[in-house]
Amino acid sequence: MLKTLFGRTAAKATPRDTDADWEEIGRTNPYYGVLTDPRFKSDRLTDEVLADFFRSGEYAVEHEVSRLKGRYPDFEPKSALDFGCGVGRLTRALAARTGDAFGVDISESMLAEARRNVPTSAAFGRELPDRAFDWIVSLIVFQHIPPERGYPLLKALLARLAPGGFVTLQFALYRDARHASVPGGRIVMGDDFTTVSNVGALRDLSKGEMVMFDYDLTVIAAILFAAGVTDIDLSHTDHGGFHGASIHGRRFI
Ligand SMILES: C[S@@+](CC[C@H](N)C(=O)[O-])C[C@H]1O[C@@H](n2cnc3c(N)ncnc32)[C@H](O)[C@@H]1O
Repeated sequence: MLKTLFGRTAAKATPRDTDADWEEIGRTNPYYGVLTDPRFKSDRLTDEVLADFFRSGEYAVEHEVSRLKGRYPDFEPKSALDFGCGVGRLTRALAARTGDAFGVDISESMLAEARRNVPTSAAFGRELPDRAFDWIVSLIVFQHIPPERGYPLLKALLARLAPGGFVTLQFALYRDARHASVPGGRIVMGDDFTTVSNVGALRDLSKGEMVMFDYDLTVIAAILFAAGVTDIDLSHTDHGGFHGASIHGRRFI
């Protein structure tokens, strides 16, 4: 309970157990949990659909490689950490490119799929490994972690970045009026950019829901800069009205 200015107590929002949500999603619909296209629901998966699924990971990694190489011609990572690796969609492509990839995920059921999907040049675990990586990648993950947990996680992740190493990190930052009724974040509405906070009803959702959280770019920048990632650029991400940014950058100390 929080004490208010007038001595009354107010209910503190119960933090949602997103780990339990992801264990449930990983158990029932792991591929659809990663990419919410109905083709990837468990009862519809075929070899062809799975090939498409992993091709999307290859494209995403290629896109990031060309972006980082365009900015840093010496971009040749020899190791990659894939935070929130899910079923290994990106880890597989990162392992092929670097020969040394590590996927971390909170959900054992996701990790079980990933171990089946990715060759032995990759390793997996629930905990961040105690070693440094040349490239830290996290796409469509932090947006599902409550920021009060996500910021310290980002700090811990960046502590694994080798000097001179690179990051590709995606965060949700706000949502537009289409999602005014969806609990869990900051809605920016209309031409005058009215901001509405909508964090109330999270605890009423049933287990296994995919919840979205918006981050504060100021806090993210402070964590990145403190870790020496002082050269960054952003590109816009829009998942059907959930807006955010992919951050591409390099550690210079
Ligand atoms: C939408 S999927 C994205 C998977 C992968 N990044 C990709 O793009 O293919 C989000 C993943 O983040 C994982 N995740 C959620 N919370 C996490 C946490 N606190 N720590 C690590 N992984 C987490 C989920 O289990 C899930 O596998």
